[in-house]
Amino acid sequence: MNKEKTFVMIKPDGVKKGLVGEIISRFEKKGLALLELRLLNLSREEAEELYRVHEGKPFFEPLVEYVTSGPVVVMVLEGEGAVKVVRSIVGATNPQDALPGTIRGDFALTIEENIVHASDSVESYERESSIFFSD
Ligand code: CMP
Repeated sequence: MNKEKTFVMIKPDGVKKGLVGEIISRFEKKGLALLELRLLNLSREEAEELYRVHEGKPFFEPLVEYVTSGPVVVMVLEGEGAVKVVRSIVGATNPQDALPGTIRGDFALTIEENIVHASDSVESYERESSIFFSD
């Protein structure tokens, strides 16, 4: 048994396109449990903390600007191998490499607006989810 939790954020483009229900439905249909869910506007501080590992990279500032430009949905999902399973449902970071059938493969075209963020490890989940959820 390898039951674990992971963190997902539906970015402003996903919310604007009306994809919140579709995205959550894909995770639920796979068998993942939705443990936490919030709709909010990220502060600059929250966005910088979420993407701290990318600080200094050329895309950092535009990324922070973008994810603070409109409402996002953050959630915690739980299930067997949740980190890896969720990333496979989400698809490759660059939507041009993401396979059809994945969220980014079906709904996004550019890396700057790739619909969704998902933790890449249990450690990232712990750090990222703690920005938005108390436990
Ligand atoms: P995400 O999974 O949220 O993690 C970091 C984000 O930075 C990534 O998705 C992209 O939306 C964004 N990004 C923008 N440009 C790049 C780039 N050149 N390489 C990687 N990520 C990028």
